[in-house]
Amino acid sequence: MKCRVCKGKAAIKIRRHNAAFCPEHFTEHAIRQVEKAIKDFDMIKPGDRLLLGVSGGKDSLALWDILTKLGYGVDGVYLELGIGGVDDHAYSDVSRRYCETFASNRGLKLEIVDLSTRYGFTIPEAATQTKRVPCSVCGLSKRYILNQAALDGKYDALVMGHNLDDEAATLMGNVLQWNTEYIGRQHPVLSASKDGLIRKVKPLIRLAERETAAYCVLNGIDYEVEECPMVEGNTGIKMKEWLNELEDRAPGAKHRFLFGYLERVSDRFATEQPELTICQSCGQPTTGATCAFCRLEIRMKS
Ligand code: FES
Ligand code: ZN
Ligand code: ZN
Repeated sequence: MKCRVCKGKAAIKIRRHNAAFCPEHFTEHAIRQVEKAIKDFDMIKPGDRLLLGVSGGKDSLALWDILTKLGYGVDGVYLELGIGGVDDHAYSDVSRRYCETFASNRGLKLEIVDLSTRYGFTIPEAATQTKRVPCSVCGLSKRYILNQAALDGKYDALVMGHNLDDEAATLMGNVLQWNTEYIGRQHPVLSASKDGLIRKVKPLIRLAERETAAYCVLNGIDYEVEECPMVEGNTGIKMKEWLNELEDRAPGAKHRFLFGYLERVSDRFATEQPELTICQSCGQPTTGATCAFCRLEIRMKS
């Protein structure tokens, strides 16, 4: 297996591009993919102040590295969710340390928001009390707190580390249920709204999960390799498994599914957006009188 560019020994093969790359040219390829996604979807404007949600996993750390190499100034925010672990592996602590090490080695700014200190509960506590799947309370808390952190810091855009597999799995899950409202909201750029939603961008959508992992390994980036111990009940994992089987048989299927939707179909769902109002309790945008996070907070205090 030879590198497409230099014909040296390849370290990774990417079937959907029908290409293999040596470490150096794979790194170049990954950076170009992010650059292309940013340009094609007009994600970032010159002078934008950017805040990246970092989890300590491969995607967000690879993205932070790539954006820095592309010359963007990006600050990071890590949410301490209070997720413990299996045996001695304290998931949240370990993940936070990977982010701190990454940021301090490169002189980057990292803000830590501790869910327990700031809001008085952890994700395991919220999941137990509400009897909801952990990922559902985790997802809604992350969306809320990241938006708030970006508003507080007066950032222009919130950068998220969702990759091709994540986005294809979300789309698949929503298509199988015909959740048209959610389908209409799926885009690599979600515009800011006047009522307090920060613009959200996803520059990793052209890179698959194994490629961000390979990027970290080949570029000496240490990341949390363990899966979140609370992942049970996450339907996205099933979708990913099915899409991986499909991809095995038809390389490029995930990319065609997601980008076919984005380029040819997404406009038709864009009108399915619900009207937003302001949460009477916190002032963040919501579809009801009180936003889902404030309702969760109230429930956790009762
Ligand atoms: Fe969903 Fe951790 S809470 S993966
Ligand atoms: Zn090469
Ligand atoms: Zn609220």
